[in-house]
Amino acid sequence: MSVNPDEFRAVLGRFPSGVTVVTTKGADGADQGMTVSAFCSVSLEPPLVLVCIEKNASAYPALTRAPGFAVNILSAKQEQIARRFAIIDIDRFEGVGFTRSSNGYAILDDVVGVIECRRFALHDAGDHTIILGDVEATRIESGSPLLYYRGGYAQLEH
Ligand SMILES: Cc1cc2nc3c(=O)[nH]c(=O)nc-3n(C[C@H](O)[C@H](O)[C@H](O)COP(=O)(O)O)c2cc1C
Repeated sequence: MSVNPDEFRAVLGRFPSGVTVVTTKGADGADQGMTVSAFCSVSLEPPLVLVCIEKNASAYPALTRAPGFAVNILSAKQEQIARRFAIIDIDRFEGVGFTRSSNGYAILDDVVGVIECRRFALHDAGDHTIILGDVEATRIESGSPLLYYRGGYAQLEH
């Protein structure tokens, strides 16, 4: 059975997700980060998560080679951050407030949670690579999450 690409995108859009910005550092030490909705919990013992990263993404070399990465879970007020970290050929960190995790990755201000990971494994997956992260530290902040649904941003209604 062949799958129609437009319908495939449309049906995937019926599955609501949160929105993250995944940060790491390049070999040159520069901050790298990109908006990622393909984030998922994997295992509690050991604690593992995954992100799926397009092989053509500018942050791909850094994310697949750095020792680790940080998953910043965006809050409902961070739609502009989600958009900014998907813009091509800009310094995405310019004007964005952040601190650093213990392993040096950018932790964005105003997120609702952070998951700091050491890279655990890479799995080839078509035009993406599944990057598994071994969770080393977490942070929880107050606030409501940003959602992504049917190609647009949304918020919880309660
Ligand atoms: C809401 C949203 C979710 C995204 N989720 C993913 C994702 O899960 N994986 C991915 O590889 N790219 C994802 N992207 C796209 C990347 O953020 C974007 O392609 C990339 O940063 C573009 O710039 P680049 O070509 O310089 O990497 C998403 C973009 C947006 C706006």
